[in-house]
Amino acid sequence: MRILVTGAAGMVGKHLIRYLCQVGHQVIPVAFVKHENMICADLRDEATVFHLVKMYAPDLILHLAALTNLSFCEENKEASHATNYGITEVLARACSESEIRLLFLSSDYVFGKYDRVWQEEDIPCPTTQYGMDKAASESLIRDSLSNYAIVRTAQLYGFSGDFVSLVCDALTARQEFIAFANLVNCPTWIGDLFAMLNKIILRGDRGIFHCVGSEALSRYQYACEVAEVFALDVSLIKAVNLDFLVDIRPPRVRLSGAYTYNSLEFYPGRLKDNLPFCSSYAI
Ligand SMILES: NC(=O)c1ccc[n+]([C@@H]2O[C@H](COP(=O)([O-])OP(=O)(O)OC[C@H]3O[C@@H](n4cnc5c(N)ncnc54)[C@H](OP(=O)(O)O)[C@@H]3O)[C@@H](O)[C@H]2O)c1
Repeated sequence: MRILVTGAAGMVGKHLIRYLCQVGHQVIPVAFVKHENMICADLRDEATVFHLVKMYAPDLILHLAALTNLSFCEENKEASHATNYGITEVLARACSESEIRLLFLSSDYVFGKYDRVWQEEDIPCPTTQYGMDKAASESLIRDSLSNYAIVRTAQLYGFSGDFVSLVCDALTARQEFIAFANLVNCPTWIGDLFAMLNKIILRGDRGIFHCVGSEALSRYQYACEVAEVFALDVSLIKAVNLDFLVDIRPPRVRLSGAYTYNSLEFYPGRLKDNLPFCSSYAI
């Protein structure tokens, strides 16, 4: 399948495009700033998007491009909206006109106002600008397209610079690691996310999917599991409570993946099972 990937040079994108090529797709990678072997484009610009679609005629657009720094988005609401909603709006229009399927990578942060185990059809209740723009993008896609998939994911690990490598680096250097005991979500291994995405791509599934890990963990529990699996000193990890009057992240965001796992017939491993796959970069 010919897949145009936005955000191709991002943390997820650069691993995802390699995976998609390995499993036999033809990938058209689009980045914002100049990167080798990637198309460089500002996707907020409608003419640019329509030109790309005409020139490369993809079967599917896999939309990852976003401003992902929560604090930046909060402090720069207009810029966040222009990118995180604006690009989706332009892509949805192009997909509608050219009958192209759209797969949108969304976030668990479309929820967060309440603590509940969220299902795919629950109504979003974001607490941040980033979450609001993701939720607005989802709503636009649902209202304007029929051939779409919205994939919500969370707290990805499986690449250098992720939470796993931060814990490993600190503990290996015998430094204290501060981990939040009251910040909870579902860590998700990129290996599981990519396999689920590929199933959705190949089967042409439509609708909303929760491609998340099967456990909701606090950052403290998460760090302790990392220490245990890599035989590092767990006593260096200090549990601290985050002050949510200062930090804008929603405290507990737990997504249920049960419906998605059953419909895709794919069951992600637990953190403990997946961490050994991260050993090459983590320590
Ligand atoms: N990482 C996670 O744990 C996580 C969890 C849930 C959801 N997600 C979603 O997954 C997607 C990828 O996340 P990530 O962690 O890989 O984010 P990232 O590293 O910040 O990558 C986002 C990419 O978007 C591109 N971009 C920004 N503005 C653009 C514009 N105007 N035109 C074209 N491209 C633009 C950037 O390109 P340049 O690099 O060229 O500037 C950047 O590489 C995002 O949609 C994010 O919301 C991620």
